[in-house]
Amino acid sequence: MFDLQAIIDDIYRELEPQRGLGKVADYIPQLARVDARRFGLAIVTVEGQAYVAGDADTAFSIQSISKVFNLTLALGKFGEAIWRRVGREPSGSAFNSIVQLEQEGGKPRNPFINAGAIAVTDLMLAGHTPREVIGEFVRFVRSLADDETIVIDHEVAASEAATGFRNAALANFMKSFGKLDQPVEHVLGVYFHHCALAMSCRQLAKSGLFLANNGRNPMTGHSVVSPQRARRINALMLTCGHYDGSGDFAYQVGLPGKSGVGGGILAVAPGKASIAVWSPGLNDNGNSALGSKALEMLAQRTGWSVFGS
Ligand code: DON
Repeated sequence: MFDLQAIIDDIYRELEPQRGLGKVADYIPQLARVDARRFGLAIVTVEGQAYVAGDADTAFSIQSISKVFNLTLALGKFGEAIWRRVGREPSGSAFNSIVQLEQEGGKPRNPFINAGAIAVTDLMLAGHTPREVIGEFVRFVRSLADDETIVIDHEVAASEAATGFRNAALANFMKSFGKLDQPVEHVLGVYFHHCALAMSCRQLAKSGLFLANNGRNPMTGHSVVSPQRARRINALMLTCGHYDGSGDFAYQVGLPGKSGVGGGILAVAPGKASIAVWSPGLNDNGNSALGSKALEMLAQRTGWSVFGS
């Protein structure tokens, strides 16, 4: 086994001069206020060992990474029935694109684009109030990370609610196709709160550990999902987790991953480790520019690719 601390320290040192790379998301005003030079890395192995570098313990807005946890919860509740509401194919378009939705009758391509996560959130609201759904989501992520300090940043949620015209358009569009059961305001309210969860790289890496360990969290001993389900969530992360950049991420990194416009990426090395990186500047596809580079270096130096070393 190689020295993971040395590897992560080297990657941090080599990339440090490029801190600030990319463009910080500014369509959610509260996100635009984050220091672009932040850079954190965390690896937690399936043995429970954590290795961190840089700003690994600073909480940031996980944004679309929340879609992985929301999907996991929905699969637990509704099982394969969720695929009647959302597809499993890469979209090949931007995370907030509306074009495909019209062509495909209001059924989103996958649960990781905004429209798909909105559809999954609609399902989660069946028979529940928005407050209950948000509460269940926060408790679930806390249990995954084994960390009760994780909270929603309500300023980010409010900021997004005030400016989320594109998401409102997507939700209303789906509603017009009869694809949302609940009131649009409820669905969007819950969706924005999920996205506004604040977590550090260390917390995120811990929360993704079940995906690296056949569905069981090795630190808490909890069986979160079945091995088959963990494998399937990983497959979706690999094919759809980086939107129109998913092919490139598979090519460069070769691991299931999910990005967020807050600049975080959660990546899963099955059987090995869960990894989280954070750097707020984004590339053209809305994925962390420096974070992607860091993961590419890590995959190269560890040989951790699902396609072979
Ligand atoms: O709905 C939005 O636009 C944001 N709350 C989340 C988008 C996001 O993170 C896309 N990721 N790269």
